[in-house]
Amino acid sequence: MDIKTIAAPCSQKSFMTLHEDPEIQCLGCLAPHAYFIPFGKEQEIFGDRESSDRLEMLNGQWEFEYFESIIDLPDDLCSMEFSKTSSVPSNWQLGGFGKPQYTNVSYPIPFDPPFVPDDIPVGVYRRKYCYSPDGMRRILVFEGVDSCMYLYVNGRFVGYTQVAHRVTEFDISEFLNLGENQIVCAVLKWCDGTYLEDQDKFRLSGIFRDVYMLSRPKKCLENYRIKADMEGNFSFEPVGADAQISLFDGDRLLLSADVGEGEVFSEKLNSVKLWSAEIPYLYRLVIRSQGEVIGEKVGFRTVKITDGVFRVNGRKVKFFGVNRHDSYPDTGYCADEKKLRRDLQLMKEHNINSIRTSHYPNAPRFYQLCDEYGFYVIDEADVESHGCVNVFQNFRWDREGGYDGIALLASDERFEKAVCWREELLVSRDVNRPCVVFWSLGNESGWGSNFRKGALLIKKLDDTRCVHYESTHCLDETPDDVLDMVSQMYPTTESMMEFLEDEKEKRPLLLCEYSHAMGNSSGDIEDYFETFMASDRFMGGLVWEWCDHAFETGRTDEGQIKYGYGGDFGELHHDGNFCCDGLCYPDRTPHTGLKELKQVYRPIRVTRADGGYLFKSMLHFAKAHELYFCHFEITDELGISCSGQVEFQLEAEGECTVAVPEAEGVFDRETYISFIFTSKSDGHEVCFDQIKLSDGAAKELSPCEGSAELISEGLTYVISTRGARYVFDRRKAEFTAVEIGGENILDEPMRFNFFRAPTDNDTMKWDWINLYMKDYRVKVYSTEAEVRESCVVIRAKTAYGRSIYRPFAKVEAEFIIDGEGRLRVNAEFEGDCEKLEVFPRFGLRLFLKKSFENVRYFGYGPYESYCDKHQADRMGLFESRADEMYEPYLRPQENSSHWGTKFMELTGDKGKVRVSSQTGFSFNVSRYTQEELFEKAHRYELTKCQSVVLCADMAMSGVGSNSCGPVLKEKYRFPMKGFKGSLEFCFDK
Ligand code: GAL
Ligand code: MG
Repeated sequence: MDIKTIAAPCSQKSFMTLHEDPEIQCLGCLAPHAYFIPFGKEQEIFGDRESSDRLEMLNGQWEFEYFESIIDLPDDLCSMEFSKTSSVPSNWQLGGFGKPQYTNVSYPIPFDPPFVPDDIPVGVYRRKYCYSPDGMRRILVFEGVDSCMYLYVNGRFVGYTQVAHRVTEFDISEFLNLGENQIVCAVLKWCDGTYLEDQDKFRLSGIFRDVYMLSRPKKCLENYRIKADMEGNFSFEPVGADAQISLFDGDRLLLSADVGEGEVFSEKLNSVKLWSAEIPYLYRLVIRSQGEVIGEKVGFRTVKITDGVFRVNGRKVKFFGVNRHDSYPDTGYCADEKKLRRDLQLMKEHNINSIRTSHYPNAPRFYQLCDEYGFYVIDEADVESHGCVNVFQNFRWDREGGYDGIALLASDERFEKAVCWREELLVSRDVNRPCVVFWSLGNESGWGSNFRKGALLIKKLDDTRCVHYESTHCLDETPDDVLDMVSQMYPTTESMMEFLEDEKEKRPLLLCEYSHAMGNSSGDIEDYFETFMASDRFMGGLVWEWCDHAFETGRTDEGQIKYGYGGDFGELHHDGNFCCDGLCYPDRTPHTGLKELKQVYRPIRVTRADGGYLFKSMLHFAKAHELYFCHFEITDELGISCSGQVEFQLEAEGECTVAVPEAEGVFDRETYISFIFTSKSDGHEVCFDQIKLSDGAAKELSPCEGSAELISEGLTYVISTRGARYVFDRRKAEFTAVEIGGENILDEPMRFNFFRAPTDNDTMKWDWINLYMKDYRVKVYSTEAEVRESCVVIRAKTAYGRSIYRPFAKVEAEFIIDGEGRLRVNAEFEGDCEKLEVFPRFGLRLFLKKSFENVRYFGYGPYESYCDKHQADRMGLFESRADEMYEPYLRPQENSSHWGTKFMELTGDKGKVRVSSQTGFSFNVSRYTQEELFEKAHRYELTKCQSVVLCADMAMSGVGSNSCGPVLKEKYRFPMKGFKGSLEFCFDK
């Protein structure tokens, strides 16, 4: 609609009605177009946009007033008084105005489209702008405003915009006076667009992306379209004015041409260097028009789905990606270039090749950076209406009306224009970016005619990319044949294989979200990788999600940041820590899950082969030997015994075999060889592969010279040996004391342990609690002891439970103490809890004196490891301290165990504790008890206990990614029936 058709544009509040009218998406704005920044001079065009003499940044402190309700706005807001300031760009909730609310699915307002509550919070911004006429227009650009904005200049209404993540331009020339001018923006927290912006995130408001003024000639280049494909076809189409273009490869001019307005210039170049995420080669295009110069980077590449297979430049590329939100603990939605670069750099270092901009377009600069760093981008429109699933007051998705209700707005004609507009905004802005490979219609909004029309519109606007969308639940019969691929979230690997059996389905399958990275998670990435590789129809996937969303709510006395998640801001309703589901902490410190992902996404995989080792390249375009150095290390329980360089030549998609003479021969210890690849450009470790060379000779226990003595007194057995002295309480079937040199090293009895501090994936945790696994009582059926050769053997039959149910487990244990003081525990475990999905662990827990703080182990490290999460770890000898064996998840949970351990030692001034097992065990050393981790909601609330707590587990279940995804695979669950295990302890001076 043309602004002039609106009666009496004025700054009166009574005029503010556009935000409840989905037919009006904007008013007084320029037509959407491809993002570019004009320059007056040619020198800087490929540099920082702020160096353009045609751009004036308007970021900074703006005058600000906040109103809890739009009803409290003064009638003429342009002449009101301002007493506060707000920084632009930012979210006002983080500046102390109103509070953040974290809600995932549910709408933060009643579902009454297109209406929003009467009491809409409003932030009014004001700033001065100095103008001296120079014959040029002034275009005021907002790169992101949540949720909508009424704009006034010098008290006159200029226009209106909504769609939080769009770039909006207002030509304000005719409103300006010579000298000082006043810009006023009234930003509303909700509008009819809120129904389409129900993304799972903290709900924040304000001008959250850059604001700047462009000076442009009256007639100027309004838009242009660049196409460049793998065959070297290049075309350029200017809109609004003629243009003169020159294309350079570095400094070498390849072509130049004058292109008339509305014409399409095209030319085929010979032997172009292609753009890909691996080799993001970019050409430079200089565009001159009407005294303006624009610098564009051009990437030649083709993305296509043919015969159900996705290809980049003809190669079968897979997505090894992540979903990324704009979320920063200090600046909320606001990401400056430094932050964006840090994210992208970190992703590159972790072998990530693709990003889905979940669930809205990112700042325009982001895509230029993706072109430069090399990422395949799934660019997503600013659309999500997930909250519809809850509006029937069904209270559960699986009731009548169920999940299809997600599509409530998908065919609602009132929202047709809005949905299509959001698709148009997406494509028109980013269409020239080579990094963008798919357009995504949005997220979780169901399927219906609005989306079908949106998809068709996209195809009309751009015929060089594919259309993605996952949410095909439908309330009517609208066909979804316009989607170029099938997209799913969190399927099991088994159901992925079933997808291949559907003969009617010819499209490829993408996992737009998988391996939900909440807390101690990412236990299944390698399994998904294997499945991705099982068929060319699988396009790979993108892990949910890049970072934890949380904000600083204060500091502890020690200066530790207190991170707040859902519920920490006094929200009416919230979704707790479901926003802490990233591969990085809010400050981008990697979680161990990111290390795991890095290793699964590695560019080279090494296996044993005839005559040496086979290197297989996962790269499609780059030659691995040009990018990486390789060296090998041979390790055993004493550390690295040998290392050296490895020369190799590995073509894209190729294989090669290398020989390592040092790895030949017989090793009498358990020995491994690791191949470690480092980047030739900056030296960072890219990946490794570790292969076992030898199991080593079976270990004989050193001969036992002493003999163990047994004294049985009432309900106690006392066992004395040359080494340790043990006190066994027959009432509880547990060791109440283990003495070294006359001193008990235990703070609490050593007893069986079944519980673990639930991870976010342990969604069955209340079953554990209900079964009293955490605070069981033991039933002792029998205990007996005998002296056998130089050993004392204690046998105990026990059951574990507390109330209501049958005992959840029965254990028959044998404790064999030899004359040296060594203890061997053999246990048979019989679970009685078939209905339980996952049983956490089985082992012994020791509360050792605090001085046992030095840790050494030969097992999977250095990161925490579990039976399903150890790709990033290698078998090796590691040293640490009890205090440091801790992964600080924002919501405390089980962390820092080490799977596959052959031995571990804790030393302190009171002696040494050593635990070992020939077959491998899992251990955990911590200053925080599992009870403490379970009870506290935030890491900053944790208190260390007085002991060093050692959990030595005969087995521990994996971690999986069940917080939003499939339950842990059977093969990673502790086997509840007929489990047998053993551990050896040695307590020494
Ligand atoms: C998906 C959704 C994401 C996020 C995730 C759970 O269903 O698309 O936005 O909510 O689940 O963390
Ligand atoms: Mg959602």
